[in-house]
Parts: sequence; structure tokens; C-alpha cells
Amino acid sequence: MAMKILFVCLGNICRSPAAEAVFLHKIRQKGLESEYIVDSAGTGPWHVGNSADARMKSAAKRRGINLVSIARQVKLDDFLYFDLMLTMDSDNHKSLESLSKTLNQDSNALVKPLLSYSKKTSILNVPDPYYGGDAGFENVLDLLDDACDGLLCDLIANK
Ligand code: 4NP
Repeated sequence: MAMKILFVCLGNICRSPAAEAVFLHKIRQKGLESEYIVDSAGTGPWHVGNSADARMKSAAKRRGINLVSIARQVKLDDFLYFDLMLTMDSDNHKSLESLSKTLNQDSNALVKPLLSYSKKTSILNVPDPYYGGDAGFENVLDLLDDACDGLLCDLIANK
């Protein structure tokens, strides 16, 4: 059965749609699309229905990665549907922990920081690039590339 993975940030227009697209790109390169169901969502409601931030889309496009997702907010059912919920920073992590406490059954999802899979860095937070310049978007993609490599290695090794 396919492993279901949800990438989570605050607005679902910068970091988590990029993480979703980077991971999708990697599994397509390896011919593993059928083994994973991948999505992203935000803990906040502000950008629901919007496509990803144009700056994030351009930065990803320069690396041959298309961001096509439309922002949505995390919902309670996500804790039942997904196997893994991968947060971009500790605020997202705390938001998911609080939300999961409102479930009236146990969550099926393991909630982890995406950067816990990184090989090149020990930081656990993907910096929010929204209010910064272009370099912030490149840095996010570098972090996501490394973490998604580590994630995929881990998933393949522990299948
Ligand atoms: P994201 O970035 O959580 O990576 O999608 C943000 C996008 C928008 C806002 C904050 C973070 N905002 O405050 O509108």
C-alpha cells in the first residue's frame, strides 16, 4: 500500500508546497510514484485556494521543479489519512500537536520535523522565506533537497 505523506507549513504557499514538489520530483526520477501519496497543507487559513508564492515557484522552476499545488488548511481527517506529517518548523509542529489533541480518536500519523531527515545540517526549522529576499527561497530549496534525499533513503531502507 502506498505510504501517505503530508508536508506542513504555516501558509502552504512557500515551504510545504516546495517540499511536496521536491519530494515528488525525486520519486518520479526513481520511478517510485506509485509507492507514495504526497500532499501539503498549512496550519493557517489565510492563503486557502491560492497557488504557491510566485517567488517560490520561480526558484523551483530554475531547478526544473514545478509547483502546482493549491493551498489548503490542515484538517482533522489528515491525522487519520496520512502516515507521516512532516513539519517545516517548531511552530507548525506545536500547532499540529494541539490540533491532534482535539481528535476524538488516536492519530494514525507520525508527526516529525522534515529536517530531522537532513544529512547536511542539524537545524530543525526551515526558515520562513515569505518576508525576505530571493536568497531565502534558494536556501529553503537547498534545505528541502537535502531533507527529501534523507527522507526517501530512510523510507526505502525501512520499507
Ligand atoms: P509558508 O510561508 O508557511 O512557507 O507558506 C508563509 C506564507 C505566508 C505567510 C506566512 C508564511 N503569511 O503570513 O501570510
